[in-house]
Amino acid sequence: MDKPIVTNRALHADALAGLRLSVKRMHPKWFYDSAGSQIFEQITELPEYYPTRTEISILRSEIDTLASFVPEGAALIELGSGASTKTHILLGALKKLGVYVPVDVSGEFLLSVADDLARDYPALTVAPLVGDFLKDLALPAATDGLPKIAFFPGSTIGNLEPSEARDLLRRVRDWPGIAGFILGVDLVKAPDTLVRAYDDSSGVTAAFNKNLLHRMNREIGADFRAENFAHEARWNADKSRIEMHLVSQKAQRVWIGQDSIAFADGESIHTENSHKYTRAAVEDLAAKAGWRVAEFLADPQHHFAVTVLV
Ligand code: AVJ
Repeated sequence: MDKPIVTNRALHADALAGLRLSVKRMHPKWFYDSAGSQIFEQITELPEYYPTRTEISILRSEIDTLASFVPEGAALIELGSGASTKTHILLGALKKLGVYVPVDVSGEFLLSVADDLARDYPALTVAPLVGDFLKDLALPAATDGLPKIAFFPGSTIGNLEPSEARDLLRRVRDWPGIAGFILGVDLVKAPDTLVRAYDDSSGVTAAFNKNLLHRMNREIGADFRAENFAHEARWNADKSRIEMHLVSQKAQRVWIGQDSIAFADGESIHTENSHKYTRAAVEDLAAKAGWRVAEFLADPQHHFAVTVLV
C-alpha cells in the first residue's frame, strides 16, 4: 500500500478524533487554508451574506462614537486578521493612537500586515503578535503601561460556544490598562434570512464548506468525494445558532491514510456553529465577564451590532 501523504499532523489528529465521534464534527478553524480564505472573501461579497457589509457601514457611520472610547496614545489590539477594511476604518480615524497590535496565528500573514500598515500609517507603532487569542496572550512590550482597546469584529465570536465567548471576554477584561472592547455581533433575525446567508444561491458557501473535504484530501491523504456530501445550513433555535453540516448522500467509507471512517446515509459532519445574539444576550454575556455594554450600535434593520463594552 502507498504511504499516506500527511503534510498536516494537527489536522490529521483532529480529523480522526472528530470523525470518530458518534456525532461527527470538525473545528471551523480548518476552513481557512489559502483556498478557503479566498472563498470566504467571496462569501463577504454575496448579496445574501449581510454581516460584513453591514458591520462596515456601522463602523463608518458610528466612527466618532467609537473613537470617543479610545484614549489618546492607546494600544488597539485586534483579535484575528488585521489590515482589513474594518481595521483601516478605525486606524484612519484614530489619529492619536499609539500602538496597533494585530493578533493572528499566522506569522507570515502578520509580517505582510505589518509592512502594509507601516507604509499607510508612518506615525503608528505596529507590534504584531503571533498567537491564538483563544488561549492566553502575552501582549507585546510596546503596549506596556498604555491604555488598551480590544477590537474583535466580524462576529467571529459567534464561532465560540457561549462559555468560550465568556472566557475570552474575561481574559481580555484582565489585561492591564484595558479600557474597552469593540465587539461585532451578528443578531438574531428571521430564520430564512439567516439560512440564506449560509446557503447562498450561487453555492459559494457550499464550496467553502466542501473545501474542508478537499483540504483533507490534499493534506492528510484522505479520499473524500465531495459530490457524495451535501452542504446544509440549519437554524438551531434552541441554541440560537446557524449550524453548517456536510451530509453524506449515501452509506460510504472514506479513507484517511490507513484509517477509515464509515458514514451512514444521511449522517452529517457538523463543521461550524455561528451563534446569533440579541441585545439581552450580549448584555448577559458581558455582565458574566465583568463588562457593561456602553454602546449597542445596530444598523436600521437590526441585522448586526457593533458593541462597545467598558
Ligand atoms: C467568519 C465566523 C464570522 O460565522 O458568519 C461565513 C464564517 N461561515 N459563512 C460566520 C462563515 C459560513 C463567518 N465568521
